[in-house]
Amino acid sequence: MFEVLQPSPPDKILSLMGLFRDDPRAHKIDLGVGVYRDSSGRTPVMRAVREAERRLFEIEETKAYLGPGGDPGYRAAIAELVFGGTLPADRLASAQTPGGAGALRILAGLVARARPGVSVWLPDPTWVNHPAIFADAGLATRTYPYFDPAGSGVRIDAMMAALRQAAPGDLVLLHGCCHNPTGASLVASEWEQICDIIVARGLVPFIDFAYQGFGDGLDQDAQAVRRFASRLPEMLVAVSSCKNFSIYRERTGCAFVVADSAARAEVIQGQLLTCARIAYSMPPDHGGSLVRIILQDPALKAQWRKELESMRARIVDLRTRLASAFAEHSNSNRYGFLISHRGMFSLIGTTPEQVARLRREHAIYMVEDGRINIAGLAEEQVERFASAVVAVSRS
Ligand code: LMR
Repeated sequence: MFEVLQPSPPDKILSLMGLFRDDPRAHKIDLGVGVYRDSSGRTPVMRAVREAERRLFEIEETKAYLGPGGDPGYRAAIAELVFGGTLPADRLASAQTPGGAGALRILAGLVARARPGVSVWLPDPTWVNHPAIFADAGLATRTYPYFDPAGSGVRIDAMMAALRQAAPGDLVLLHGCCHNPTGASLVASEWEQICDIIVARGLVPFIDFAYQGFGDGLDQDAQAVRRFASRLPEMLVAVSSCKNFSIYRERTGCAFVVADSAARAEVIQGQLLTCARIAYSMPPDHGGSLVRIILQDPALKAQWRKELESMRARIVDLRTRLASAFAEHSNSNRYGFLISHRGMFSLIGTTPEQVARLRREHAIYMVEDGRINIAGLAEEQVERFASAVVAVSRS
């Protein structure tokens, strides 16, 4: 039966992991997959997570099923972290999911059940997996302009013009903070303008919120989500806990739907659980338990916040170092945008050919579209990286 299948095209991000692993060169640099690394190039288990694991080991009495929605304590703690009390809890439907991608997929499935003919508007560019996730759920996708490669900022006017063309009921996928792959962010007044269009056109925001705490801080990064939640009758939010708790392989996330009434939230809750039940029955528990233990204990939460803040500060510091190394090597301010960009990623304007040369000639791994994971750089690699990029851009 499988003779009709063609080989899958390699995933542009994940395929780099294998290539990097197999490269024997000792000086290789991995700026590919979006994983935080410290100055020594490691992705350590956070101390707060270690402590939560120790406690879990002691207190866990059973591994019996929790159900398709996962751990209610985890969901409540993430609702507080994300929405910060801007909503009455009874307007929120939620399900713990296998990572942020799991949340995106079951929310897409829910949308397909509610409005099969709807279009999902995606930023151009967006995370490589977004179009496939929505297509897999049977939803049509459209794109709106987002990134301006010339100025490395957001094409806010073109973005707004496109969204004014969206049909009532269409969904608008927005990155809540730390845009992946570009790093270019909307400022508060621009978020407000987008929200105005969403209200005026009767659109529904679908927020991918994978990097809370990596941009300007935990609460600052949630400003747009909270503002939208306070203004709009309905919205969807896909949260990842994999990055800000550094528990990537534990696949921990949460799907939220803000409903216009408590009664509607109840119906949505049931449908959301049905989507989860069909897709994977129930989410894994370990990561959610760790997050719950951390967020429910003030001292452990403070410890986690401190560790996350130091990760964020390292990224901000690397951005400054990298911008000045680029200024020196390129003799221009062409890369000054690195300072205003936020999160792990920036699109730096390299072509696929230049990316291939960086890999071949300099053992530097980055995504074909020119995305770098800033957190993958060790401080002592900044100079070499900037000089290599400038070299391949010139010749
Ligand atoms: C990334 O964008 O690198 C991460 O979200 C990892 C992934 O699954 O692509």
